[in-house]
Amino acid sequence: MGKEYHIAVLPGDGTGPEVVAEGVKVLDMAAGKNGFSLKYTYYDLGGDKYLETGEILPDDVKEKLSKADAIFLGAIGHPDVQPGILEKGILLNLRFSLDQYINLRPVKLYDGVDTPVKDKGPADIDFVVVRENTEGLYAGAGGCLKQGTEDEVAVQESINTRKGVERCIRYAFECCRKRDRAKKLTLCGKTNVLTFAFDLWERTFYEVGKEYPDIETDYAHVDATCMWMVKNPEWFDVIVTDNMFGDIITDLGAMIQGGMGVAAGGNINPEGVSMFEPIGGSAPKYTGQGIINPIAAIMAGQLMLETLGEDQAAAQVEEAAAKVLREDIKDLGAGKMGYSTSEVGDLIAGYINDKL
Ligand code: IPM
Ligand code: MN
Repeated sequence: MGKEYHIAVLPGDGTGPEVVAEGVKVLDMAAGKNGFSLKYTYYDLGGDKYLETGEILPDDVKEKLSKADAIFLGAIGHPDVQPGILEKGILLNLRFSLDQYINLRPVKLYDGVDTPVKDKGPADIDFVVVRENTEGLYAGAGGCLKQGTEDEVAVQESINTRKGVERCIRYAFECCRKRDRAKKLTLCGKTNVLTFAFDLWERTFYEVGKEYPDIETDYAHVDATCMWMVKNPEWFDVIVTDNMFGDIITDLGAMIQGGMGVAAGGNINPEGVSMFEPIGGSAPKYTGQGIINPIAAIMAGQLMLETLGEDQAAAQVEEAAAKVLREDIKDLGAGKMGYSTSEVGDLIAGYINDKL
């Protein structure tokens, strides 16, 4: 018997369950072909559960999630729930309490996928964003005074700790070394205005950089980073940045790699439990129609396999998904793929099966 991994599955809201089902299908095929298995425990969390019971993330569930080998998440977000409740209560709560201090978001344009960036192709768009995932503006520091009056004051502070910044930067250098491509790490910040926070980031970046003489270091302000991501995406290999900037530039990244249908991310605690998710939301208007693209969820599964150390299985998932993108699906949009959600999962699982 090969290794068995315990995976906690949070299908979540909207189309989350549909894409998660395809992720599981593909993961099982890859596991079977590589002599290990995945044991899934499903947890019913999200908007529907909250509306029914008032429960967001019960402590006993959190406790169980903290004991899994990894967490596989579909989508969180419900049109009838006020914004912030589920995002903060489930997604951010898990990222913070499991200390998933890295949000790893590959931006890779596969062959056969359209990018809105003129004259750029797969050779130009292939980089990784390492986003700090537990601090910054997301830390929840601040408050308000005299709310609702004309004297209202609202303060939202960005928390940056030396430890938090350093571990993120160190991870990014390691990631750059492991990728072994251009070996260039770009710090994305705003040192010309945010002179406290990004001074800490910049000093730490160059200090840690001394330990990585094989990695070229570069710096770009966040606004310029957005410009270069469109104008010269080939300049990037690995980008490291804070939580808020990372959130913003990875939506741009998702668009230049072909859209939310393909963009995946990992919330990683290198010493603990990590959580993998498609970047796109719950897409409630497509729920239950079987027309949403599951590739982002499947690629989230691929990242999960990589993080579990199952590199061969991960490579097979990526290869099979790349083949489907290259040969089978011409348009990635929901309802435009020419295949149903589950047919796309079947195709990818089928290619993994054929290969071995
Ligand atoms: C993301 C999302 C989340 C974030 C939201 C839903 C809280 O936009 O994963 O990028 O801002 O981190
Ligand atoms: Mn986001």
